[in-house]
Amino acid sequence: MARIIGAIATSHVPSIGGAIAKGLQKDPYWKPFFDAFDPVHDWLARNKPDVAVVIYNDHGLNFFLDQMPTFAVGAAESYTNADEGWGLPVRPPYIGDSELSWQIIDKVMAQDFDLVTCQEMQVDHAFVVPMQLLWPDGGANAIPAVPVTINSIQHPLPRAERCFHFGQAIGRAIESFPRDCKVVLLATGGLSHQLDGTRAGFINKEFDLWCMDKIVNDPQALADLTTKEIIEKAGSQGVELMCWIAMRGAMQGHVSAAFSKYHIPVSNTGGAVMVFDHQPAARALAAE
Ligand code: DHB
Ligand code: FE
Repeated sequence: MARIIGAIATSHVPSIGGAIAKGLQKDPYWKPFFDAFDPVHDWLARNKPDVAVVIYNDHGLNFFLDQMPTFAVGAAESYTNADEGWGLPVRPPYIGDSELSWQIIDKVMAQDFDLVTCQEMQVDHAFVVPMQLLWPDGGANAIPAVPVTINSIQHPLPRAERCFHFGQAIGRAIESFPRDCKVVLLATGGLSHQLDGTRAGFINKEFDLWCMDKIVNDPQALADLTTKEIIEKAGSQGVELMCWIAMRGAMQGHVSAAFSKYHIPVSNTGGAVMVFDHQPAARALAAE
């Protein structure tokens, strides 16, 4: 059976992709940021996941304001990237895992989440930048992935608690997948940032650190936030926190933080990376 071995949550700021493209990882400005990923690479080398389920928000590349699904799942053999206007080099296609995609689609639909299924899907910086950060060899060497998107652009947005339940449905779908494989969840986005309006540049370190604490042992506290509260506390783009909340919902066994780093600012964003170990519920019970 498939097993969720853990999760990695990270910000997905496009300028990180720009720094990678220019080879600035050792530049004094970027070094502390990129160095934080060494322990993440060590975790990946130790745990060797076979497939990644990537929960993120599309920013207008695959979906635009005219057609914006609340929840969508990719079901392709591969996913192309394209120029979004950030000036980042277009990445080679990422490999899919359509068998796991259809497992997630079937089993999540059976739990009453009415998904959009995408047999073709372009992935934007919110997918590509974290993949580059976690698997710097990238492209065809990156892990097979299932992209899952949550609308964080076009209001009304799904409530945080709905995202938590969506994640729980994904978790059940993965753990009932008959293939013997190790799954890592990725959540991308956040933490606090606001890119427009009179609060452009807004970052809330106190709230970000509170979220990084609650996501481990009290995710319900995050699920209880209203969309308005998240926007007030984390900025209008801080709603990307929903991707983290869904990721956490998918882990229903024992969760512990293996690594955590907060770095401000990354461009306009409270930059965060966290790694979680997950012991699925049956194993967690057996160990007690
Ligand atoms: C920035 C952050 C984002 O999450 C994003 O999607 C685009 C830009 C930023 O901080 O510049
Ligand atoms: Fe974003």
